[in-house]
This record gives sequence, structure tokens and C-alpha cells, in this order.
Amino acid sequence: MTKIELTAGVYWVGAIDWNLRDFHGYTTLRGATYNAYLIVDEKIALVDTVKHDFSGEMLNRIREIIDPEKIDYVVSNHVEMDHSGSLPAIMKIATKAQVICTEKGKEGLIRHFRGTWDFRTVKTGDELKIGKKTLFFINASMLHWPDNMFTYLKEDKILLSNDGFGQHLASSFRFDEDVCSLAGYDCDTVMEEAAKYYANILMPFGGIILKKIEEIRKLGIEIKMIAPSHGMIWTNPIKIIEAYLKWAKGESKPKVLVIYDTMWNSTQTMAKEILKGASDSGVEVSLFHLRKTDWSEIIKEVLESKAVLIGSPTLNNGMFPTVGGFLTYLMGLRPRNKLWATFGSYGWAGGAVKAVNEKLKSGGYEPVESIEVNFRPDENDLGKCYALGQKIGSIVKAG
Ligand code: FEO
Repeated sequence: MTKIELTAGVYWVGAIDWNLRDFHGYTTLRGATYNAYLIVDEKIALVDTVKHDFSGEMLNRIREIIDPEKIDYVVSNHVEMDHSGSLPAIMKIATKAQVICTEKGKEGLIRHFRGTWDFRTVKTGDELKIGKKTLFFINASMLHWPDNMFTYLKEDKILLSNDGFGQHLASSFRFDEDVCSLAGYDCDTVMEEAAKYYANILMPFGGIILKKIEEIRKLGIEIKMIAPSHGMIWTNPIKIIEAYLKWAKGESKPKVLVIYDTMWNSTQTMAKEILKGASDSGVEVSLFHLRKTDWSEIIKEVLESKAVLIGSPTLNNGMFPTVGGFLTYLMGLRPRNKLWATFGSYGWAGGAVKAVNEKLKSGGYEPVESIEVNFRPDENDLGKCYALGQKIGSIVKAG
């Protein structure tokens, strides 16, 4: 194995999960990584571990650098098992190591692993000197669990941000600048996956993110590199910090997104006519059938779109089950600053559009307009759909 060094004495010792396609419901089409970092100085610290199944891979990487028995500190930035799953394996070997985490982290680790390890709890501003290097801790509660924290390597100016700034992306590369580095081939896969990750994991916490970035600025912390616990390491941290600021404020593109399900094509016909109207107004549009695209992909589209239209056929006097399930997921992610509209169809009795509107209102969202059609949309109905698309498109275009 080749040793992967971020800077002198700081190593990546994580694992690559090439085959992961489902991360508790989040579709990971490009796999994932669990990043752990080994800091070697007079004392040795391991920051985060990896998912349980990959403990052997992490230990082999550590053994390339030092004997894992010599680890003095295991910093657990986050209790969730993709980062703490190999904690028991490492603590079995590094028997004298101290586990460093937040107070909430200690509670969670004890509850989950029933571990009786030597804990040291830390809060923002606490430091751990391990020789020439200093680990500085920053509480990051609710980014995205109550226990989260960041570890900042003071002298190296590297922020080990755990889930913050992560992406689910398996690659033989470890650094953002190396992905898509083939001559003449340009892409932004890392940013695309970072947006999907933000949308599906961190979108509910936009307000906390804005405050946290401000707090870090006030602490006078200079960041040269951000090393998250998933995906590529950001050698250009400004790029991802600026993207987070934009996403957290709810800024989006002038784009209209149409999301729907359909039974006998009536709702789909409406969806396509709305899309046509929006497109003819001169804005970018996108359309997704809820049983044909992974919801985690659609959520990324929600993040970047200014307007979201939801369509549902009526089933048993209510909305279609996929629409209900999707709205439950969407409402939990609390998207900000969107323009909403709804549409749908019914055979002998309506109910879908009313149910969609009620669901949106329960999350604090007010649809600007709704259309419900009986059986197949006729020319008049299609005219209304086209007009709705144009209206939404024009609002979005006007900013
Ligand atoms: Fe919250 Fe990557 O776990």
C-alpha cells in the first residue's frame, strides 16, 4: 500500500467502499469512502475510524506507518457508525489510548458500544498538544448530529470536518484536484457529489452552518485544506466553503423542477405541458418521475432549483403513495426559498392536490397555484398547465 500523506506527519488511513450503492436510503451511485486520519508526532492520534467491515483495511494502512499499539489518542468527531464502527477494533489493539470526543459523543459511544474506554471530553477551544502539532477542537453540534465536532490541526491549518463538506465518491484519488485530471477532460464530479451530499444530509441545518462558518472566521482560523470523512480532500477549501454559504442561504439557479408520479398518464401529460410552458419562458427546466429516478438525486435538483412543482394522481381520495413518501423525505430536509406549485388528476373523486397542498403547508410552504383535472386533461386544461409553467418560469426568471 502506498502511504498517503496530506502534509508531513498527517496520513489518510481510511477505506474505500467501491460497491456501496445504498447509504441508509441515500443512493450512492459512485460508492463512498470512510476517511480516517493518522497524526504522527511525539504522540500519535487517530482521527475517526471507518465502517466496521473495513477495520482490517484501516489497520493495514496504519501498520504501514506505525504500530497501532502506539496510538495515544483516538479522536471520535462523530458517533455515527460509518466513523465509529472500527473504534472497538482499534481500542482492542491500542489499549492505552484515550478516546476524545464531545460530551454528547461520549454518551452516544457508551450507549452504542457499551465501551468502558478512557474518555476525555472536549468543547470549542480545547487543545491537545501531541508534540509540534496541536489539535484544536470545535463543537459542530447538529452538523449533523448533536455529538459532532471538527478537529483542526493548528500548525498545518487542516480542518478535519467529519461529515461537513463530504461527498459520497469512491475513487483511487484522495484529493479534489486529481479527480477528472485527464488532459482535455473537464468535469466537476466532486462538487456535484458534494451538492448531493449537502442536499440529502445537511440541508436542514443551513442556519447552523452559516453561524458555524462565521464562528470559525471569528476564531481567526485559517484553513488551507479541508479533510472530510467522506470523499475527496479539498485542497481548495474556499470553493466548497463558498458553495456551502450559497446552499445554506437557500440560493439557487433560475430553474423550474417538475416532480410527479402518474397512473394513466394524465398527471404526466400535465407535467410535460407545465414543463413546456416553463421552458418557453426561457429558464432551465427539469422533470422527474418519482418511480424512475432515485429520490436522493431528485433532492439535489431541489437544492439547485428556484421553483418546485409537485404532481400526483388521486388514489383512494388522497395522493399517490410515492408522492406522499417523497414529500415526507423532502419536508424533513426543510428546503429554503423555493417557489411551490401543485397539480394532479382524478377519476371519480379528487383529493390528491388537496393532500399535497396540506402536506406542503404543514412544512410551512404555500403553493402559489394548484391545478386539478378530471380524467384526461382537455385542451382547456392543457392551456392552464402551459400557463402555469409560463407563470412560474417568468417569476423565476425575474429573480
Ligand atoms: Fe453522520 Fe458519515 O455519518
